[in-house]
Amino acid sequence: MSGLYGISDLHVGFPDNRAFVEGLRPASDGDWLIVAGDVGERFSDVEWTLRTLAGRFGTVVWVPGNHELWTTKDDPVSLRGEARYRRLVEMCRGLGVLTPEDPYPVWEGEGGPVTVAPLFVLYDYTFRPDGASNKEEALKLARDAGIVCTDEVYLYPDPYPTRDAWCDARIAYTERRLKELPSGTRTVLVNHWPLIREPTRVLWYPEFAQWCGSERTADWHVRFGAVSVVYGHLHIPRTIWADGVPHVEVSVGYPREWRKRDTAPGGPRPVLLAREDA
Ligand SMILES: [Fe+2]
Ligand SMILES: [Fe+2]
Repeated sequence: MSGLYGISDLHVGFPDNRAFVEGLRPASDGDWLIVAGDVGERFSDVEWTLRTLAGRFGTVVWVPGNHELWTTKDDPVSLRGEARYRRLVEMCRGLGVLTPEDPYPVWEGEGGPVTVAPLFVLYDYTFRPDGASNKEEALKLARDAGIVCTDEVYLYPDPYPTRDAWCDARIAYTERRLKELPSGTRTVLVNHWPLIREPTRVLWYPEFAQWCGSERTADWHVRFGAVSVVYGHLHIPRTIWADGVPHVEVSVGYPREWRKRDTAPGGPRPVLLAREDA
């Protein structure tokens, strides 16, 4: 029987991770695959990966991670910010891959019907470390600790003045779309960054959390009928239950991370979980 699966943080710039993607196959014909961001940095790597997966899975749904949004000097696609995101969406359309700019698809298989809502809401520096009461103070604490996310160098917010301003616009757009869903709609919310702060509490460097989400999405799983939330970014694969809703982190992560575990990275994870599966 086919199923609804999620994976993220494929980071195919690493040859071992690219080999992992080459070996990825659906468990059953017709499986859907949610790709929750951080496929890679180079535009052509993202395109290769999504083309490969779209040729194997029934439906592929993608949301951007911070790495897809980086503009690096060695990438022939030099677009920045919103323009880069729009170019990625256009590429996905050519492959038949669904994005946060498309009508939300409905999974009708086992555990359905559920509306799969790919989101792109970014972060706004509100997951602040203790002792910081605003973004400037949070950033200062991060700089003092030597923990500054590389996004500050490569993730341009153009045409927005800041990444948090881009996040404001994304939250407004996304809330409007989610509010349009008929009441009682069961959803799977997909976002690269966690929608709640709890998963970031175990970060080795708490200063890093400010690049990991927004306090403004904390109740979205309740407000918008989620039966599951799928995210990545933290490279800490696990499931946290909040208000009876599983928040499923589906990352593969860097080779140096998955090699530390006893096993090679697992395949895509089922995202429609019963409480006893957790
Ligand atoms: Fe990642
Ligand atoms: Fe990420």
